[in-house]
Amino acid sequence: MKRLQDKVALITGGGGGIGGAIGAAYAREGAKVCLCDLNNDAMDPFMEDIRKEGAEGIQFIVDVTDSAAIDRMVKDIVARLGQVDILVNTAGTFPMHGITEIEDESWDRTIKVHLYGSFYCIRAVLRESMLPRQAGRIVNIASLAPFVGGPGVAEYTAAKGGIVGLNIAVAKELALTGINVNAIAPGYINTPMTQHLYSEGPIKEALETWKIAKGRIGKPEDIVGTAVFLASEESAYITGQVIFVDGGSIG
Ligand SMILES: NC(=O)c1ccc[n+]([C@@H]2O[C@H](COP(=O)([O-])OP(=O)(O)OC[C@H]3O[C@@H](n4cnc5c(N)ncnc54)[C@H](O)[C@@H]3O)[C@@H](O)[C@H]2O)c1
Repeated sequence: MKRLQDKVALITGGGGGIGGAIGAAYAREGAKVCLCDLNNDAMDPFMEDIRKEGAEGIQFIVDVTDSAAIDRMVKDIVARLGQVDILVNTAGTFPMHGITEIEDESWDRTIKVHLYGSFYCIRAVLRESMLPRQAGRIVNIASLAPFVGGPGVAEYTAAKGGIVGLNIAVAKELALTGINVNAIAPGYINTPMTQHLYSEGPIKEALETWKIAKGRIGKPEDIVGTAVFLASEESAYITGQVIFVDGGSIG
């Protein structure tokens, strides 16, 4: 029996490095996988991987900052696949500005994509499927940022800090149901979001020499084992946690 056999998963940011890799891993474990992203083309190769596993998959072009669109998408998934068992909040952006350079628009958009987007998706899957069934798994993709900070990442860090707060509050509120809520804090992972920083050059070298105990930048595949575990029955007694998947990063 596969670990996510016949579960229905919704992954936002499913066209991205981490979201796409999680989608393919869930399909390998027997889940039906719905990907949602702003970028339809980016989802295509991951949906191909999902279908190659023989899994059912649906892709949605949805902006996670649009709560009505999120509600419609989740209702559509329930109508077509019966339920949502697993939500992974992965959609995100990574703007870098010094604190006094941040414009209102960038601040608003960053908080909206990460924090509002995660909230809208959590609320929709709870209302439409998880609470009526008293079962589910919510996995929020946080970051090291709210634990270590760093120059030029105030808006991102504030948004991810909000997700860490949302994660523990919702976990405690739902603890007596069969719904578990946990977060993954990835370290430095080479994806389309970060390849300008991590694929080569002085930042990559400095991280691998000084900051990452494992001595290498992470890959999206480094995240999927934890994402499968947190979505599975094996994590039944774990809720409200943030699991660091960062190669032993030192700040
Ligand atoms: N790569 C890293 O080092 C790293 C580290 C810590 C946390 N994270 C987090 O992991 C998550 C995935 O990042 P990634 O590295 O795979 O980046 P990525 O850029 O490859 O993926 C992010 C995806 O989110 C989508 N997206 C952005 N705004 C959206 C919106 N409003 N609605 C729907 N989709 C939207 C993008 O189109 C993209 O496909 C993000 O939340 C990111 O903050 C990444």
